[in-house]
Amino acid sequence: MSDTKRSSRIAGFHRQTIAERIAAVSEFAGLTDAERAHLADTGNLPPETADRLIENVVGTMNIPVGIATNMRIDGRDRLVPMATEESSVVAAVCNAARQCYDNGGFTTSMSGARMIAQVQLLDVSDVQHARLRILERIDEIRTVCDECDPLLVKLGGGFRELEARIIETRSGPMVITHLIVDTRDAMGANAVNTMAEALAPRIAAWTGGRTNLRILSNLADRRLARARCTWRLADIGGSEVRDGIITAYHFADADPYRAATHNKGIMNGISAVVLATGNDTRAVEAGAHAYAARNGRYASLTHWETTHDGDLAGSLELPMAVGLVGGATRLHPTAKVALRILGTDSAEDLARVIAAVGLAQNFSALKALATTGIQKGHMALHAHNIAMMAGAVGDEIDAVARALVAGGKVRLDLAEAELKQLRSSSRLGG
Ligand code: MEV
Repeated sequence: MSDTKRSSRIAGFHRQTIAERIAAVSEFAGLTDAERAHLADTGNLPPETADRLIENVVGTMNIPVGIATNMRIDGRDRLVPMATEESSVVAAVCNAARQCYDNGGFTTSMSGARMIAQVQLLDVSDVQHARLRILERIDEIRTVCDECDPLLVKLGGGFRELEARIIETRSGPMVITHLIVDTRDAMGANAVNTMAEALAPRIAAWTGGRTNLRILSNLADRRLARARCTWRLADIGGSEVRDGIITAYHFADADPYRAATHNKGIMNGISAVVLATGNDTRAVEAGAHAYAARNGRYASLTHWETTHDGDLAGSLELPMAVGLVGGATRLHPTAKVALRILGTDSAEDLARVIAAVGLAQNFSALKALATTGIQKGHMALHAHNIAMMAGAVGDEIDAVARALVAGGKVRLDLAEAELKQLRSSSRLGG
């Protein structure tokens, strides 16, 4: 079919079965039978579950789940499942954790489990009065919010605090109400969004204004997870390594161009655990980056210092809106197993483990960057990927990867050449 004849207007696509959707997409894109069969194989996520999680499902996307070993967190040994497509991420956490294991590992804490929902109020001329009118209704607001979620209240959560802020914008002044809610073991988006929607008409009536958005904030700065750890000099290779890490941190803290990469590395670890446990990676990422810019300039999420004894002290604090109930956590079978491996019993515990993983990741990245460089560690795994991309299968993968690493250059053209040579020499009985 020519490109101009293809239409993306597929009536009732969302009502179709997965098989019907695959047929429609295959016709559109000219997929082969093998490609159709590939899509239809949803692996260990049952198709009916996938179909319930999102709309217009035609398949699933498998990402490897690896285990971070050596993790000792608050005196307890943990195995941490990580879902990531990036090589070296799991190994980096294992290495960092091994180097602090004998010194006790990670210590973590949490500021609480409070989420913020925002209600935007417009068209009020007396914004100062409006703000106070809202704050005066705290008891009524508490009642409305808690009535939205009696189960949450029964579990010890519910409305906690009220804030009303006046902000100046290009559309004029606005009064922004913050409902601050303890969401316990839930990430809490549904709970707080429901409360904000229930409350908005009242806020409009009390103030004579007009409400617009009613939605949670991903800058979950009432839900901060913290991790700290001390790496002994003897365990990390001496003062040069320590100083290299600290100088690397100072670079990130002073320069947003470096901070973006530095924090990306931290999120390599964090997002992998967030994903493995069926939580919302984008929510956590948005919160982390917004928090990194909270002082008006984007900076490092971690801090690195020298202790009295000359050891290396690392710490990390960031918003961590993750839950054990709701969302994909309870529906995705892999997430359920991941939580069993982790042996976690609360969202707080999960958040704290995730912070420790983020700190471990940053340690390894900075150590590698400040010493041998990142490519050496990456090279072996990367070489395997390139070997597979070149078409190597079975034992060929190792052989091609080894040759690439030995040559010091990991490139697709070289892998293809290596594979060609390998195959011709084995044909010749070499
Ligand atoms: C790569 O995914 C992550 C790093 O770039 C992080 C960093 O530079 O700190 C290695």
